[in-house]
Amino acid sequence: MNILLIGSGGREHAMAWKISQSHFCDVLFIAPGNPGTSDLGTNVSIGVNDFPALGNLCVSEKIELVVVGPEIPLVAGIRDYFQQDPKLKHILMVGPGRAGAQLEGSKEFSKRFMQRHNIPTAAARTFKSGEMQDASNYLSGCSVPIVLKADGLAAGKGVIITEYRTEAVQVMREMLDEGKFGEAGSRVLVEEFLSGIEVSVFVLTDGHSYVLLPEAKDYKRIGDQDQGPNTGGMGAVSPVSFADTVFMDKVKNRIIEPTIAGLNAEGIDYRGFIFFGLINVKDEPFVIEYNARMGDPETQVVMSRLKSDFVELLVAAARGELHGFHAEFDTRAAVTISMVSAGYPGDYNKGFEISGVTNAAAGVFHAGTRIKDGKLITDGGRVISATGMGSTVEAARTAAYATASSISWDGVYFRKDIGLDLLKSLKN
Ligand code: AMP
Ligand code: GLY
Repeated sequence: MNILLIGSGGREHAMAWKISQSHFCDVLFIAPGNPGTSDLGTNVSIGVNDFPALGNLCVSEKIELVVVGPEIPLVAGIRDYFQQDPKLKHILMVGPGRAGAQLEGSKEFSKRFMQRHNIPTAAARTFKSGEMQDASNYLSGCSVPIVLKADGLAAGKGVIITEYRTEAVQVMREMLDEGKFGEAGSRVLVEEFLSGIEVSVFVLTDGHSYVLLPEAKDYKRIGDQDQGPNTGGMGAVSPVSFADTVFMDKVKNRIIEPTIAGLNAEGIDYRGFIFFGLINVKDEPFVIEYNARMGDPETQVVMSRLKSDFVELLVAAARGELHGFHAEFDTRAAVTISMVSAGYPGDYNKGFEISGVTNAAAGVFHAGTRIKDGKLITDGGRVISATGMGSTVEAARTAAYATASSISWDGVYFRKDIGLDLLKSLKN
């Protein structure tokens, strides 16, 4: 079949790599893709939000399956757009409609959804524009740390955790009264702080059945030992040692299955990925956030460990025929290291020539790269995901760091401690 994958990051390169290995895949288009995906299919320079152009491409290239990588087109309603067009509605799509994507697009919606369906999550209260005085009174009585979350999509910057009530009031005022984050910040959740280790769990669902994909741990801060500002993700590891059968059974029974049942009960036809951002509080899982898509860079380790035919699973989910499927994983561990530009997640320069890059099969996934005058250059904050596998997390780390060390450009930076905490917890 002819397949269109939407997106351009390391996540999409890893998905394109897995999709292109399937014998069900005849032709793969990636919109807009990156230099890594161009080795695996045909890049088409159409933006992820240009629904009319994506639709035209689907018609002209007889696309039968569309896989949506990032959240922005999902929240903007790409599925609804395709469903409403008689020329496009027959095309299979992996990715929820606008209603389902609210799980990610509105933290207020997702919090109320979890409360309606008794899914464990932090307690929260929402304040809207015009309620600054109430918010200020409430914050003065909150215990610290205080967690504030802008309701809408804020490119990973909408969550603020502070030890200081005065700072919480200031941030709340910036969001509610001064338009920081625009519409996304016109409602703000004040959430109970949960203390524990995070793990990301992923499922592919057709709205009724689901397949569980390998879990992963993400490293969000820029610096070693989780120091400094948040980023899109500085590395990922799979498997995660504490996500054992007992923990995962709790996750399935208390979180995954009630979420899918809740979507059903609310009449939301959800066909796509659900990313459960969880926190393990004394062996009990709580939901920190939902995403309506796969994670980046978690996908790079998840795809590395997935042994099943990815396209077969995607098609079954999009058709509503996932019942009876399950995903086979490689028992080996995978580790990925995000190699980033100097200055990231703040300002950074682009255009530096990259040396040492081989292909995806060797564990190199492109995130922010571009070809200029025949040379591969940096073109983003996160530039390359260097991925390795091994019989243990330790061996996979060694492989990933060997790959990362063979790639360089002016100002390259990466964390040196990805996965180290999981080795320690194994030895305890
Ligand atoms: P989110 O964008 O919702 O994933 O939040 C970003 C990060 O903030 C999470 O990965 C957690 O590290 C942290 N965080 C969010 N909510 C909470 C909470 N209720 N308690 C503790 N940490 C949290
Ligand atoms: N790595 C976190 C995310 O994709 O949201």
